[in-house]
Amino acid sequence: MDKLLIQGGIPISGEVRISGAKNAALPLMCASLLSREPLALSNLPHLRDVTTMLRLLGQMGVQVSLDDRAGVELRAGDVVNPVAPYELVKTMRASVLVLGPLVARFGEARVSLPGGCAIGLRPVDQHLKGLQAMGAEIRVEHGDILARAGRLKGARIVMDLVTVTGTENLMMAACLAEGMTTLENAAREPEVVDLAHCLIAMGAHIFGAGTDVIVIQGVDSLHGASHRTMPDRIETGTFLVAAAATQGSIRLIGADARILDSVLEKLREAGADVSADDGGIHLAMARRPNSVNLRTAPYPGFPTDMQAQFMALNAIAKGTAVITETIFENRFMHAIELQRLGAEVETSGNTAVVRGVLGLQGARVMATDLRASASLVIAGLVADGETVIDRIYHLDRGYECIEEKLSSVGARIRRAN
Ligand code: UD1
Repeated sequence: MDKLLIQGGIPISGEVRISGAKNAALPLMCASLLSREPLALSNLPHLRDVTTMLRLLGQMGVQVSLDDRAGVELRAGDVVNPVAPYELVKTMRASVLVLGPLVARFGEARVSLPGGCAIGLRPVDQHLKGLQAMGAEIRVEHGDILARAGRLKGARIVMDLVTVTGTENLMMAACLAEGMTTLENAAREPEVVDLAHCLIAMGAHIFGAGTDVIVIQGVDSLHGASHRTMPDRIETGTFLVAAAATQGSIRLIGADARILDSVLEKLREAGADVSADDGGIHLAMARRPNSVNLRTAPYPGFPTDMQAQFMALNAIAKGTAVITETIFENRFMHAIELQRLGAEVETSGNTAVVRGVLGLQGARVMATDLRASASLVIAGLVADGETVIDRIYHLDRGYECIEEKLSSVGARIRRAN
């Protein structure tokens, strides 16, 4: 199994190009199931989750062709096997995003029920409730969701809580339903908006994406389109925190500051100098960061996917910070690993109190989930001596070429197995 070895204590400095967003790429790829014509997606990141989604679509009968500029063409002419098996769903919960498109276009789907995952329970009841409201018959049998429908019917759906993939699944399904669907309490995440833009390019009629009420007027069929995947705001935030924590300076090419307000505000509060233009975002940190309190919330609130990285920043900041996690119930597993590096963190329920220390010391640690791994990388970049991070397959699910990108800005980091 691969490990990352980091020699810490060096401020990072230079330029990094931001990749396409994982959380936009996965639903965009599933949108291809809604049309028999090809969907051409560019700027897809080279990530394990993207490869898993390609395998999933491929085994359903979607024709996949790649070009050498990170472009993929997906043609779901005749889907022969509308099934998402357990082996793939268990490695990537986002596999459930095939459910809405399959039921809407083919009238049937068998998708393995995602189990719990390291960061919490994560049920899919809202996805199922929405599809049922549109007329689908849903059963759970032998651990699989079985869905069947004639043509779906537009409906008014009020979601009990804000769910990103739930909103995406139902928005995709509603595109081919008969009549109008209203999604209330919808997720406002930029990835939902990116998906809506792609669906609109395919001929869908969608209004209000980016607000908490999305209205979709169903059409009989969608056609092919080309779409460029938006930049990854979580990769962007992770590199910004790495620069802030090491008191370095970084320019992120292709990053979009307009979708990162809550994160940039916290970095400024920590003492960073942040500026943005059309080409990207620049951050410089001249002194030890100040600690910053934060509370995760659905967009435009502070993203849960940046919570772990800010815990690493707070670990070496001046002062004490309180971090409250409101989205997932078990998302502090990085705290105990950060303690191995010398961080002073106490957790109780959904709150963590982080007392900033002057420095961390390198140690052997274990990655437990995707964003927890990113926080360990940041802590390793700051720590004195060598940090060895085990189980980095989690990182490969969501960060494209992280060690190459960090090396290019002066970090001493390498992969070994
Ligand atoms: C997406 C992101 C993930 C991010 C999360 C929250 C993708 C591929 N993944 O995950 O990186 O951390 O949003 O911003 O986009 N819930 C229910 N019932 C449901 C659906 C969700 O109770 O039917 C709960 C979940 O357990 C969780 C909360 O709602 O507590 C939010 O989850 P959700 O927004 O659905 O997360 P994902 O879409 O899986």
